[in-house]
Formats: sequence, structure tokens, C-alpha cells
Amino acid sequence: MKILVTGGTGYIGSHTSVELLNSGYEVVIIDNLSNSDASVSDRIGRITGKTPPLYIGDVLDEALLDQIFSEHKIDAAIHFAALKSVPVSMADPLLYYHNNVTGTLSLCRAMKKHGVKNIVFSSSATVYGISDDRPIGEDAPLSPKNVYGNTKLMMETVFSDLYHSDPEWNVTLLRYFNPIGAHESGLIGEVPEGIPGNLMPYITQVAAGLRPHLNITGTDYDTPDGTGVRDYIHVVDLARGHIKALQNLSGLGIYNLGTGRGYSVREIVNAFEEATGIKIACEEAPRRPGDLACYFADASKANAMLGWRTEKTLHEMCADSWRFAKGYYK
Ligand SMILES: NC(=O)c1ccc[n+]([C@@H]2O[C@H](COP(=O)([O-])OP(=O)(O)OC[C@H]3O[C@@H](n4cnc5c(N)ncnc54)[C@H](O)[C@@H]3O)[C@@H](O)[C@H]2O)c1
Repeated sequence: MKILVTGGTGYIGSHTSVELLNSGYEVVIIDNLSNSDASVSDRIGRITGKTPPLYIGDVLDEALLDQIFSEHKIDAAIHFAALKSVPVSMADPLLYYHNNVTGTLSLCRAMKKHGVKNIVFSSSATVYGISDDRPIGEDAPLSPKNVYGNTKLMMETVFSDLYHSDPEWNVTLLRYFNPIGAHESGLIGEVPEGIPGNLMPYITQVAAGLRPHLNITGTDYDTPDGTGVRDYIHVVDLARGHIKALQNLSGLGIYNLGTGRGYSVREIVNAFEEATGIKIACEEAPRRPGDLACYFADASKANAMLGWRTEKTLHEMCADSWRFAKGYYK
């Protein structure tokens, strides 16, 4: 089977491409390199022995998509290509709606034109917004609190409407929790642009000496150690969830991909120090507006219906994150 991976040189797309190739799928990548580098497809080749063809271009470019679907007999798409910064999405909503939502419409039109009706889509736990449900199940209320989350919910709506208009479509929406870690080879991983908004890239930049300390934003939450709790998932486990989703594509499916347990900021810092032997200087800072105390997945639906469960430990998440970052920042 041949899979079109949009955003395939990005963080999650590259790890998923590796897992696809290792599982015997063929992969074709389209990426505009707005947040990644062309060398990633060679790195995928070094890991798997198979370098996937990379089309450098935009999913908004329907002529290019037309060309790809004409040149390859694509069986399904996995759609990662999107912009993902919450603060930038608030500052420039038109950019985000255009890139993420219009880009998705463009992809769906091209797929429809070429009779390809199988898709796995990268959604996000941000679609849930603020919720007191813990753990968060797929039927929790949907109420994104920022423009990025709005684009994700809109794209989910596009896919669900498409399915209801034509049940020949098979659509799986995957709501990711907090991916961290990297491939154990150290060849691919997460490269944050500018000041990282997420915890692990910030920690690795402190470890690499690029930042003086980590600000722990919020130490008075109602959690065991007062710091925020999130469901961190190893990116390789997450990538493997996409293989299971492809194998089980049938009708409209919606699944959380998380470990089902939360770790606090302090637990992550301690685990990172233990895994790497590097001390992370921390300073306490006020809460960030809009942050929740505690947020983790009910992943039982994906466990039961996709036969998927996470295997990697927190130690591996930290050690693998650092192995990649160390090589990248040296
Ligand atoms: N990383 C996370 O914490 C997280 C959490 C939940 C959901 N997601 C979603 O998962 C997907 C992948 O995230 P990631 O962390 O790998 O991000 P990433 O930025 O590393 O990868 C996205 C890739 O898409 C490309 N891209 C963006 N817009 C494009 C366009 N219009 N045409 C072609 N290529 C385009 C970028 O160059 C990049 O390589 C995104 O849809 C993101 O919203 C990510």
C-alpha cells in the first residue's frame, strides 16, 4: 500500500514515515518545509534503508497534488501538514485558517478527484478545551480555547461532513495528547522554532546551554506537587498509532492517542535529570493564562478498537529527546 504523508518531514510525520516503511508500506511525502528540512527524508532513508520521494510544495497547491496523485497510485493519506503554534495562531488567525483549513479542503478535493477516500488526520487534544473530565474521553465536550484548536475542530468537521455525504470515505481522526521523545537513532526529532512553547524542547535547550533556566509556570495548582500535569506520549508510540489506524480504517473513527496517565512538570524535570545526568536549573513563575492544572487521556477506546497501546517509558522519552537534541544543538 502506498501512503501520501503530508507534512512528512515534520516531527510526527517523519517518525510515522519510519514506522510505515518499517511495516512494509510505501511512502510519498509532500511538505512545504515551513517548519522542517529536506534532509529529513534522507534521514528517514538512513533509518529504514528506503528514502521516500519528497515533493517540496504546499497542500494548498492543488496542481501539485494532482501531479502526485497522477504519478503515484496512492491508497490513503495521513494528513499532518499544519501550523501548530497557539500564540502565533492568536496573532495571525487568517494565516492559520488558510493554511490548516483551506489546505485540508485542497487535499480533500484532490483525493476525491482521484478516487482516494481513505484518510487519517492529526487532530489534537486542544479540541476539548477546558474540561473537568479526567481522564478525557472522546465524547468530552468540544470547545477549543484558541485559534489553533479552532482550526483542528473545523478540520474534524470537514472530515466528518465528508464522510456523512459519502460513506465510501474512511476517516480516522486521531486526537494527540503531548508527544515528546525522538527516534532512538537520534537522527530525527522535534526542532522547535524560536522560543519553545512546549516543555521538553525547553528543557533540552536548557540542557544544551541555550537558555539559563526553565520557568515552571504555575506551582500552586491542585496537583500532588503543585505543577501542571499532562499526558506525555513517546512520538514513536504515537507514530505506531497511525499504523494501527490505517489497518483499521473503516467508516468514521475518532480516537485519543495518549498514555492515559499524567506526569507533572517536576516529574518530567526529575526524569530528564535521571536519564541524562544533567541538572536543569528551574525558576518558579506565575501560571500562564488558560493553562489547565491536569489533563490526560482516556485512551481505552484506541486500546480496545485499534489494538494499540503505548510501550515506551518516561525514561525513554527523556533519553531519546536528549539524544536528538544533543546532536542537533552541538
Ligand atoms: N506536536 C504536537 O504537540 C502536536 C499535538 C497535537 C497535534 N499535532 C498535530 O500534528 C501534526 C504534526 O505536528 P508536528 O508536531 O509534527 O509539527 P511539525 O511542524 O513538525 O510538522 C508539520 C509539517 O507540516 C509542514 N507544513 C505545514 N503547513 C504545510 C502546508 N500548507 N503544506 C505542506 N506542508 C506544510 C511543515 O513544514 C512541517 O514539516 C500537525 O497537524 C499538528 O497540528 C501536533
